[in-house]
Amino acid sequence: MQIKTVGVVGCGLMGAGIAQVCAAAGYKTVVREVEDGILRRGLARIRTFLDDGVAKGKVTADARDATLGNLAGTVAFDDLADCDVIIEAIVEDLQEKRATYAALERIAGPQALFLSNTSSLCITELASTTTRPDRFGGLHFFNPVPLMKLVEVIRALTTSDDTYQAMCTFAQSLGKKAITAPDRPGFIVNRLLVPYLLDAIRAYEHGLGTLEDIDTGMKLGCGYPMGPFTLLDFVGLDTTYYIANIMFEDYREPAYAPPPLLKRMVLAGRLGRKSGRGFYTYQT
Ligand code: 3HC
Repeated sequence: MQIKTVGVVGCGLMGAGIAQVCAAAGYKTVVREVEDGILRRGLARIRTFLDDGVAKGKVTADARDATLGNLAGTVAFDDLADCDVIIEAIVEDLQEKRATYAALERIAGPQALFLSNTSSLCITELASTTTRPDRFGGLHFFNPVPLMKLVEVIRALTTSDDTYQAMCTFAQSLGKKAITAPDRPGFIVNRLLVPYLLDAIRAYEHGLGTLEDIDTGMKLGCGYPMGPFTLLDFVGLDTTYYIANIMFEDYREPAYAPPPLLKRMVLAGRLGRKSGRGFYTYQT
């Protein structure tokens, strides 16, 4: 299938990154948010990222302008009517996603593919809430989307072979390496990453070392780009807590159980970088 126009629903951290890489790959991209203020903040994030890229010599001014030229923002679903692919990157809430797909079904062409960037919900369940379960799949990006080279491609039980092929080809066309992950909680990456992060919190609670020493140990000892607590703050403690709960519910294994400290930090609003404080403190 020929993909020319991409719709992205949600212009938060992930949605903005996804819209940016689609526009940078040459697709006409329309990104939709619920209200103007959030949309403007998301588009500003893209502009800042591209400007920083130019300043660092990683992106040419022409490429930045071409990317921005391919990008449009909207608060109306109607503006996604001509999209060949629509990527949903909204909050991890089944009811919200269901309502979004219903709104999209009213305006999208019958051949349009619906893809979800969910990190934790069941792709087969999401597909079943639409009238196009054969043209539905999971496309899971990583934060920061423009820099992380991986995309997980997840088939629902109902995803057709053509849709699966189109998803793989599309992910590659964005300059990403696509891997095929099963429709199981955490897919491949979070299935392995989340227990590691939870274990780091448990170990810290049991006095293994200071936050800094544990982070430095894993960074310099293993060559990881970030230690576990820096990464937890980066991903968001609320996001990690949410994913861990879903994984624990499904797998029923202690490795996925969120540690008490994580729950309390979320309840206290210490969500990581986004709230200015998580395991570390940040200037907002
Ligand atoms: N435009 C273009 N390139 C840029 C850029 C920009 N605005 N900003 C930075 N870059 C380039 C840099 O030039 C550099 O390139 P180089 O390697 O060729 O020199 C590279 O990107 C790295 O940038 P920095 O040197 O500025 O920053 P760091 O070296 O500190 O790397 C990082 C930043 C890429 C975020 C790195 O710390 C990292 O990989 N961290 C781990 C992130 C991670 O694990 N993400 C996944 C989280 S899990 C997830 O998302 C799943 C979800 O479901 C929870």
